[in-house]
Amino acid sequence: MAIHARQLHPLFAAELTGVDTSQPTPELRADIERMIDQHGVCVLPGQNINAQQQVDFARLFGALERPPQVRGSRGARDAKFPPEIFPITNLTEDGQIQTEDNAARAYRLANALWHTDSTFRQTGATYSMLHARVVPPHGADTQFVDTRAAYDRLPDTMKSRLEGLEAVHSIWESRGKLGGYTPTPEELVARPPARHPLVKVNPNTGRRSLLIASHVSHIIGWPEAEGRALIDELMELATRPEMIFSHQWRVGDMVIWDNRSTMHRATPFEDGVYVRDLTRVTVREFAA
Ligand SMILES: [Fe+2]
Repeated sequence: MAIHARQLHPLFAAELTGVDTSQPTPELRADIERMIDQHGVCVLPGQNINAQQQVDFARLFGALERPPQVRGSRGARDAKFPPEIFPITNLTEDGQIQTEDNAARAYRLANALWHTDSTFRQTGATYSMLHARVVPPHGADTQFVDTRAAYDRLPDTMKSRLEGLEAVHSIWESRGKLGGYTPTPEELVARPPARHPLVKVNPNTGRRSLLIASHVSHIIGWPEAEGRALIDELMELATRPEMIFSHQWRVGDMVIWDNRSTMHRATPFEDGVYVRDLTRVTVREFAA
């Protein structure tokens, strides 16, 4: 069956039908890569697959990350999941809804800030693939912006100002901004900051994109306040309302996005009342 793409936003994002992720083939990999290069975010509805099938599909695209163990979470290394699965969930290890004082909830809250997955790792990430198992009746949309479109819209003076600049990204920077998760000394050592160029070039397409958002702590060689002001200015431009695509989840949706082309954020829901249980896999950009 041929893949059909329906554009979801004037700038980017498409819904793909005619895809069966339970049948991973080299041809499917090529088709999906082509679609992602074009659209940045692809929504694949009706994917009735288990966690192992999600991992097997993602392996078509390269080596996969493994999640860190976060205190209070339902098994980042849960025996029922392959080790590459990141549970994106408000459930505890015992399958109960996390209470407000749960450390994993505190850790999760910073996902409401605009971010790009894994920029705090030097190995970066190409694709994230998020699959919905249980979704709440309302809220909890995931919002995306296209960081290629954001770059393209910058004035030439700003584009030349950004050339050659590098920023430091840290998971503890974004966790410090929202949620109140306090890392242990061991976690601080285990997850050091990374540095990346502010302007990223996608090797598949040659297109440039902004690599910014909530994990950035400072620009290398710049006074902290000046770097923060520049990042804030870029964020304001990149996340204007007309730039945002909001995905409303249905059970069985798999959403694939290219972290080299997009930023995203979580939006709120009644997380003390309803269950939201999704699984993510993430493809590394560079070897460890
Ligand atoms: Fe994310």
